[in-house]
Amino acid sequence: MVQYIVAIDQGTTSSRCVIVDHDGNPVSSAQQEHRQIFPHAGWVEHDATELWLGTREVIARALAKGDVSYHEVAAIGITNQRETTVVWDRATGEPVYNAIVWQDTRTTTICDELARDGGTERFRDRTGLPLSTYFSGPKLRWILDNVDGVRERAERGELCFGTVDSWLLWNMTNAGDGSGAVHATDVTNASRTLLMNLRTLQWDPEICDALGIPMSMLPEIRSSSEVFGHVRERGSLPGVPIAGILGDQQAAMFGQTCLSPGDAKNTYGTGNFVLLNTGTEPVFSDHGLITTVCYRIGDADAVYALEGSIAVTGSLVQWLRDNLGVISSSPEVETLAAEVDDNGGAYIVPAFSGLFAPRWRPDARGVIVGLTRYVDRRHLARAALEATAYQTREVIDAMLSDSDVDLSELKVDGGMVVNDLLMQFQADILDMPVVRPRMIETTVLGAAYAAGLATGFWRDTDELREKWAVDTTWEPQLDADERDRLFAAWNRAVERSYDWA
Ligand code: G3P
Repeated sequence: MVQYIVAIDQGTTSSRCVIVDHDGNPVSSAQQEHRQIFPHAGWVEHDATELWLGTREVIARALAKGDVSYHEVAAIGITNQRETTVVWDRATGEPVYNAIVWQDTRTTTICDELARDGGTERFRDRTGLPLSTYFSGPKLRWILDNVDGVRERAERGELCFGTVDSWLLWNMTNAGDGSGAVHATDVTNASRTLLMNLRTLQWDPEICDALGIPMSMLPEIRSSSEVFGHVRERGSLPGVPIAGILGDQQAAMFGQTCLSPGDAKNTYGTGNFVLLNTGTEPVFSDHGLITTVCYRIGDADAVYALEGSIAVTGSLVQWLRDNLGVISSSPEVETLAAEVDDNGGAYIVPAFSGLFAPRWRPDARGVIVGLTRYVDRRHLARAALEATAYQTREVIDAMLSDSDVDLSELKVDGGMVVNDLLMQFQADILDMPVVRPRMIETTVLGAAYAAGLATGFWRDTDELREKWAVDTTWEPQLDADERDRLFAAWNRAVERSYDWA
């Protein structure tokens, strides 16, 4: 009997597969980390083949662990780290270069050159995005310009470009010799490339021309919830339809059932991403937020969102662990931070990829300020957690200034929301209740929902809404003067990070 959806989340640090039942509960899961490749300061790469093989592996492991056979799987949903750029050979499936990750800043010069004609807002009206190293278009341009022979091969129609969703879809539907392989993406992932027109939901020929990108490389743009193709590679899910694709932050919106205008969520992952559903018309920001596609279900109108993208939050904790050795495991950050009453005057501004929303400062680099002999690793642990909350406050402030939405609470999800100290501080610094749902794996859930809707596994979005339930609410407790003092100090710290790169 068909009773499960397989959801894949190919993220920045790991690939996960979660098998979800009809109630939306996870019945089995598997996860595998992949290498982070840092060839130079500011460069971040993944091995695209490792991402695909890791994904294949976690699917097999999750099925085996849950004793689930492919006959019982109704559909597959894919969600993924967004913007990360892969180029591969249409005939052999070989990537021409490592995947260039969303955090990578090597395209600063390309962005500066493009901004000479019309500034960083040059494509905002059509794409909802500023010119930034964050998005895929400049990364693709870098590969075309810098990897031997790639431009000629692309112009001959021999190469495919894709974000990670496209790369996985292509491999899953490839019978082995390139035949049958589906080269497509969904509107949410396409909206992160800087190449898609937000209103037509198609690639924009003028922008592609300005960036020097041959349009024959680009995948077909489809909705987020429809049958994209069936698995044809010799793996563990033969013949199963792939019926949902969403970028991970949009998938989290779907998993949180933020499906009405005014609904918002904040996901705490490698970075933090706050999204606000603005309905079927794109809303443009005056305060540094980006406009993005939230989702599109089949032929229905696309739904848009305003997004505050923060590049570094959870990855700052990893940096304390891996680069400084301040902690030996990620959960230790909370234990250490809880040993002190405050940050001891220290602030960490983790501008490792410059600063994204709402400041968009590519010239910024990380700083730690306020150090005295008094400060020790407990204060730094606390400052790292606080940096996540302050950055979130900045984008929520921007969101409230941009729209007439009255946000009365913030729904949260992602790995860091198990951290009580952070959640309480978040409520304090926002002066707003923070609400965690029972199911915090909203990203995989959203991908499962999109695939399940397309295949009739779930009836409609009302059925999905009924599954959402509160687990914990944190109420603000800090007095207003203290909140203002802390946030003012944070703002001074951020200014110290400017004009560095
Ligand atoms: O835009 C980047 C975002 O999609 C990455 O998400 O969860 O892999 O950090 P995550």
